[in-house]
Amino acid sequence: MKALLIGAGCAALMATQAWAQDANQTRGQAATCFACHGNEGRSVGGIPPSLAGRDRAELLQTLKDFKQGKRPATIMHQHAKGYSDQQLERIADYFAKIKLGSAVAASATR
Ligand code: HEC
Repeated sequence: MKALLIGAGCAALMATQAWAQDANQTRGQAATCFACHGNEGRSVGGIPPSLAGRDRAELLQTLKDFKQGKRPATIMHQHAKGYSDQQLERIADYFAKIKLGSAVAASATR
């Protein structure tokens, strides 16, 4: 019984670590967008558009359309192709969770 409990504790700890690693990875991937779309996806002057606080489903659909070449783009086709659909989902999630209007760079994953 004791061993079982310790085992369960280890599994929970490992799951937490995996989650933290995923969150870090997603932040790193989202950071590749900051160069053009502004820090934390808050674009300066709106070109290219801000990503922060946008609707998750809309962001994801746009990214998938870029990836499949369905939506006209200069650079985003190449950028979107570099990520798996699962990574795009996490990136869309990351930007959708940023709250607009707060002075602090808000992120649910930190
Ligand atoms: C090299 C600069 C650059 C990088 C890096 C970049 N983008 Fe873009 N993004 C653009 C440009 C320019 C457009 C306008 C479409 C085009 O010409 O490709 C755009 C358009 C978009 C749009 C459509 C916005 C709208 O409202 O029409 C989304 C969504 C988007 N990018 C998401 C991302 C994400 C997510 C990343 C990171 C994984 C990223 N971009 C990285 C330059 C960039």
